[in-house]
Amino acid sequence: MANNLLKGKRGIIFGALNDQSIAWKVAERAHEEGAQFVLTNAPIAMRMGEINGLAEKTGSQIIPADATSIEDLENLVTKSMEILGGKIDFVLHSIGMSPNVRKGKHYTGSNYQFYNQTMDVSAISLHKTLATLYKHDALNEWGSVVALTYIAAQRIFPDYNDMADAKSLLESITRSFGYHYGIKNKVRVNTISQSPTVTTAGQGIKGFTEFINFSEQMSPLGNAPAVACADYCITMFSDLTKYVTMQNLFHDGGFSNTGVTQQVIEKFGE
Ligand SMILES: NC(=O)c1ccc[n+]([C@@H]2O[C@H](COP(=O)([O-])OP(=O)(O)OC[C@H]3O[C@@H](n4cnc5c(N)ncnc54)[C@H](O)[C@@H]3O)[C@@H](O)[C@H]2O)c1
Repeated sequence: MANNLLKGKRGIIFGALNDQSIAWKVAERAHEEGAQFVLTNAPIAMRMGEINGLAEKTGSQIIPADATSIEDLENLVTKSMEILGGKIDFVLHSIGMSPNVRKGKHYTGSNYQFYNQTMDVSAISLHKTLATLYKHDALNEWGSVVALTYIAAQRIFPDYNDMADAKSLLESITRSFGYHYGIKNKVRVNTISQSPTVTTAGQGIKGFTEFINFSEQMSPLGNAPAVACADYCITMFSDLTKYVTMQNLFHDGGFSNTGVTQQVIEKFGE
């Protein structure tokens, strides 16, 4: 259902890889709600070319950018303002990647070059993006930046590996930059902590299928689907949430506040 919640707003959406990506759903919903935006992803991720279909469907242009490269981010921010015809109102950071997870390294035996890459891609890229926007005064007052995170930032989920450390850092950058950008320009910065979701990044985690089933049974409302996450992002980009900033917002069907459910208890009586 479209309500013109983002009518007249300009955005940058990172991280749409294929139609399973959470960012893909956000782009579709933002388009329905009347926003104009630029799509971006790492040049290497664009080789598949799937993003072209999304750009066509939403009337958007694509600007490749490796989110760890300041040079790429400078180009992205300045070109986006040119293309969209003014300052930006919303940004979605939907980026995650761990070479330690990809290469099957155990957390206790992390490769530190990989570890640094996990931090750079999955967390410091948010700092770099915000710093580039800040430097170019590229965000309008009451602009909204949302990054996606996971509850492994607060609690141990062993197979989430060094991504847990990256998400903790991501959430801390959200608070710290949220403070400075709030003071400077009334810009809001928040993270949304999403249920496990079937996407390329999600499926990279060991034991993901068992885990998604466990999470489903531990959530009173069930796991939140990607489209519902997109709806929440749209709300956070809209003017209806102007005074929400520096928060980690759980979008998880109640998982984060559940100790145990009857369904799970019963499994132990078997
Ligand atoms: N899928 C889940 O279970 C889940 C749960 C909670 C949070 N999240 C978070 O949601 C976000 C989006 O992930 P997704 O599940 O939609 O998976 P996805 O694989 O579709 O998206 C991850 C994106 O990160 C991009 N990326 C990787 N390295 C990059 C770089 N150097 N520069 C720019 N982009 C880069 C990838 O190209 C891809 O588009 C991630 O932050 C992820 O951690 C996912």
